[in-house]
Amino acid sequence: MMAQNLPSVLITEPIPEAVVDFLSSHANITVGEKGRYSKEENLIEDIAGYDALLCMLSTPVTEQVLKTGRKLRIVANFAVGYNNIDVKAAHELNIKVANTPDVLTEACGDFAMALLLAVTRRFNEAEQYLRDGKFEGWEPLGFLGMELRKKTLGIIGMGRIGQAFANRARAFGMNISYHNRTRIDQKTEQELQATYIPNLEELFENSDVLSLNCPLTPETYHLVNKKTFDLMPNHSILINISRGPVVDEAALAEALNKGKIAGAGIDVFEREPVVHPDLLSAPNCTLLPHIASATYETREAIGLLAAEAILSVLSNKQDDQIPNLITA
Ligand code: GLV
Repeated sequence: MMAQNLPSVLITEPIPEAVVDFLSSHANITVGEKGRYSKEENLIEDIAGYDALLCMLSTPVTEQVLKTGRKLRIVANFAVGYNNIDVKAAHELNIKVANTPDVLTEACGDFAMALLLAVTRRFNEAEQYLRDGKFEGWEPLGFLGMELRKKTLGIIGMGRIGQAFANRARAFGMNISYHNRTRIDQKTEQELQATYIPNLEELFENSDVLSLNCPLTPETYHLVNKKTFDLMPNHSILINISRGPVVDEAALAEALNKGKIAGAGIDVFEREPVVHPDLLSAPNCTLLPHIASATYETREAIGLLAAEAILSVLSNKQDDQIPNLITA
């Protein structure tokens, strides 16, 4: 039953129960049906009465949605990346926006490492071979892959997740190079023994593994494209756990099919949930359904952090008391 006087919060998808329970003691909660609010028109239809929105990275929080949400005070994203939200429009309408950094860093670092190992050691291909009944005995030349020790991992976007990946890759004996909008502090650079490469082309040319860990912005849209695949060595591997549109997916499929690069580990796609058909049939790529942060612990922590931001706003806390507000 709806309690009178409590604010109302729309959670756009089912999320860990602990988060819903936590919010329920302070607000009237509606949890959306899976997938319903990936469509802008459904959100526009329903948003008007809500004081707060806890949305997914798949929820298109457009200017129109925000304008229709006349009571909205905060949009909290169940994700660190927030390219799905029109932040400028939100701020113009006096709606706060929050995301969930930090709590997913380690899960994503683990995942990037796992994906890299899966691609270089050809897990998918080899498992399929076994399942197809083709394994007839140990083969000296079967499924040879690239070893990581002494190879160069080039990271584009050396924020928290980039650093978590670098840290793990160091333990596997990799050398770290990186490009970032601004150079990271010297202490962290030294700890990771990471080399800053100001010139992106140089990073593409000299990385055995290129990893994308940057946000999606107008500057990073199709940062990896036909031209950059031409720069990458033929034996190199691309890892993308950032956002799909950072890579031109058609160009990636062509690069894999033509052997311009040796493989790819891809967790994010240009038009999720659609995957480019040429990528689905391309060789040597591990394709996963955007699951880098998908651990029980992390998904609950993400939800609780977003919920905390919502409750802070609804209880009129000062901005500096609200976790992870996006200010620009
Ligand atoms: C996941 O992709 C996130 O941005 O949290």
